[in-house]
Parts: sequence; C-alpha cells; structure tokens
Amino acid sequence: MLQTVPPSKKKVFLETFGCQMNLLDSELVLQQLQQCSFEPVSTPKEADLILYNTCSVREHAEQKVYSRLGSLKHYKHQKPHVRIGVLGCMAQKDGEEILKRMPHVDLICGTGQIFHIKALLEELDAQSRPVIALEIEDEFEYNRDPKTRSNPFQAYVSVMRGCNDKCTFCIVPTTRGPVASRSIASIREEVHALCQDGCKEITLLGQNINSYGHDLNDGTSLARVLEGIHEVEGLRRIRFITSHPRHMDSDLFRVMAQLPKVCEYLHIPAQSGSNRILRMMKRFYTQENYLELIRSGRTLCPGIAYSSDFIVGFPTETEEDFEKTVQLMEEVRFVSSFIFKYSIREGTAAVRFEEDVPQEIKEARNQYLLAIQKKHNRERNRTLEGQTVEILVEGPSKLSKQKWMGRTRANQIVIVEDPRPLLGEFVQVKITETTPLSLYGQILSDPI
Ligand code: SAH
Ligand code: F3S
Repeated sequence: MLQTVPPSKKKVFLETFGCQMNLLDSELVLQQLQQCSFEPVSTPKEADLILYNTCSVREHAEQKVYSRLGSLKHYKHQKPHVRIGVLGCMAQKDGEEILKRMPHVDLICGTGQIFHIKALLEELDAQSRPVIALEIEDEFEYNRDPKTRSNPFQAYVSVMRGCNDKCTFCIVPTTRGPVASRSIASIREEVHALCQDGCKEITLLGQNINSYGHDLNDGTSLARVLEGIHEVEGLRRIRFITSHPRHMDSDLFRVMAQLPKVCEYLHIPAQSGSNRILRMMKRFYTQENYLELIRSGRTLCPGIAYSSDFIVGFPTETEEDFEKTVQLMEEVRFVSSFIFKYSIREGTAAVRFEEDVPQEIKEARNQYLLAIQKKHNRERNRTLEGQTVEILVEGPSKLSKQKWMGRTRANQIVIVEDPRPLLGEFVQVKITETTPLSLYGQILSDPI
C-alpha cells in the first residue's frame, strides 16, 4: 500500500533591522508565511527563503543589509532554489537599484506590500524574473491572527502608517508614505482580540503618532484612540510611540493623566536644543516651545517621564548650537535619550546642506551627550531607592538566568531575584539598589 508522506515544511529565515514598526511588520510577515506552511529557522543556511526586513534611517543600517546580501551571492550560486527577499524601508527607497548591486536577490517588497507577501511569493514561483512590489495603497489596514505571536503578554499595534511632516534629515516620509490612519473601531477590535488571548500590555505605534487622525478629517485624535481601547478587558498597560512635539497637545496630556492604564511616559524627540538647527531641520518648534511643552505636561500629567532622540553633527552645527542641546538636556532630565550621529540620506531635503561637521566631532558630541544622560540616570535612579514601583516581568535578566527583568511604567528596567515563575506577571517591587542603567529590587507581594 502506498503511504502518503506529508509535504515537508519550507523554512524561512527573517532578520529584522530598525524600529518597532519593523518588528511588528516582521511578525505579521511570519504569520502569513506560517499560514502557508513555512516554519521559521534561526540561520540563513537552513532556509529555503531568506528575508531581510530593512531600515533606511541611517546609512549604517543599510550597509549592514548590503553586506548580508553580498555574503549570500556565492551561496545562491550553489543553491539556486533558495529565494532571497529584501523587505521594508530599504526596498521601498532603493527599489530596482538593489538588483543592480545584488542581482541574486529575488524579491523587493516595499513597506506597503508587506501584507501581500504570500501573493508575491506565488508570483515569484510562477516566473523566472525577480518580483518588485513598491505600491503604497491609500488605505492602511492589516489582518492579524491574535494567536500567532512572538510574545504572549505584550504586543505592538499600528494605529497609522506614514508621516506628513518633512523633517529635513528624515527618510521615513519617503519609505512609509503619507499618513493613513486606521479607524478606532478597527484598532479596538485588534486590541480586544489580543487581550482575549492573554495580552496585557499594548504599545500603539505610529511614526508620528500625534498626527493620528489628521487624514480622517472627523476631529478624531490619538486621545480618542486611548479612550477607545482603555476599557478592553485584560488590558493592563498602554504605551504609544513616537510623539512629535509639534503635534502634542494638552488634551492628550489630560487623557494620559485620567486613564490609569496609560503609562505616564512619553517619548518626545527634541533632536536639538538650538533654534537655528531646529529651523534647518524643519521641526517647527523652538527650544522655548519645547521646554514649555515639557512643563505643561508635568502639570497636566504629574509624574510623567520623558525620553528623547537627539541628532548630533547636523550640517553647520557649531559648538554654540551643541551647547544649547546640552542645556536642553540639563533642563528636562530625560529618563533616557537615544543619541544619533547625523547620517546624510539621499532623497531628504538636508542633502542640500553641506556636511561640514567632521566625524570625530560628531563622535565626541555623541559621547558627551551619552555621559550627561548617564549622569542624569544615576541621579534619578538614586532618588528611587527605597520606593515601590510596579513592574511587568518581561523575561530572565540578560546577565543572570536566576534573575528576572521587568519594566516600570516609566519604561525603566528593574532586576529582581525570585524563584517563582513570574514571566508576564505584574509585581510590586521595592527598589534596594541602583546603577545608572538599572534598578534592583525585592518583590513585595504576590503577582497581581
Ligand atoms: N518619528 C519616527 C522617527 C524615525 S527615526 C519614529 O520614531 O518612528 C528615529 C530617530 O532617528 C529620529 O528621531 C532621529 O533622532 C534619528 N534620525 C532620523 N534620521 C536621521 C538621520 N538622517 N541621521 C541621524 N539620525 C537620524
Ligand atoms: Fe521623520 Fe520627522 Fe516624520 S523624524 S517620521 S519626518 S516627524
């Protein structure tokens, strides 16, 4: 008697570069592929399909992908059946150019086509040429199976796509297209499905999340989204990123204060403290406006913690400009700051400015701001000693498997030692010891 052998599963390797939006996009890609019999593997050499979900924000991130692709050239020659795909921002930005540099690539899938990956792979099977898909549709929606997730208790949910602001240094409006917001009903439905499946913390995503709803022209806003999902059963914490100071308003601060599940934490990139540089960046605020916003947030939403991004070495940045950034950091005292060295991006308005800040000055300014941030962290963390904070336990600590790592509502890392299975639990912790990077504590109660 003939035995039917089940078809063996195809294997996919997917590496993700860049931001949280890319992490979510990758999760949704894997979900689609798992539905058509692919299984994920952890090295490219095991895979029938090798995918890179890419980032274009700085040159370095792109170089990494080009170097990964370059190292696969010989491999593809040996194993021509293996498919190689470039997804996301770099695919959107460089399109067909990628094939000129890397002719062994089979699939170029832009940011707007990620949700059609299944169909694109079928198209690829049906033809002998590479497939290039770069269309960005007017609407933004996606399907998700709440049951196939990488993390059972935390999830990202995109509320919108794209950005209509045109900060002169930033490639995102090109790679992600114009703003397209989802409806509150559809966001709520997704959050509900995730929480029914055990999710406790949701981070809402948007490249410029305070401009949520501007395209819908019905007066809706991010504050209404927060209200719309707040009562979802099982949901314990809500976060959102990334905020632009220009679009931040008092309504949102008030709603953050009123809704207990919304963490009093705001990532609000300042980029620079110099009004001249901010003007060249087309950020549409001054240092004074920014500081006023920070103060008003502290009044309207007591206890709010702020974090920021800064770019050092923007064209023409002088010592005097840089001093203004230092001044702003000293004034606000962020819980964390991400410092980036300016990277010129073809296709942005800033290419017309001459890149005149030498690399070693960029490096020195980068280190200087990191040191200030570290000093602020050390001082802030010391004030937390003896206090009680709530953390969501996210996993074992990186340094020791016997310890747990969790995050406070202000997104600070806390390490606790406890033999109980606490993954995904909320616990109250008394802070006993601190370093600039971490807080250490003792659990005060059973999980709640
Ligand atoms: N609002 C977006 C911004 C994406 S880029 C979001 O967070 O989703 C993230 C950060 O990278 C920016 O805030 C900025 O500080 C930095 N960045 C963007 N373009 C850059 C460039 N050309 N060079 C250096 N840093 C850059
Ligand atoms: Fe980029 Fe500025 Fe939009 S940083 S994502 S252009 S708000």
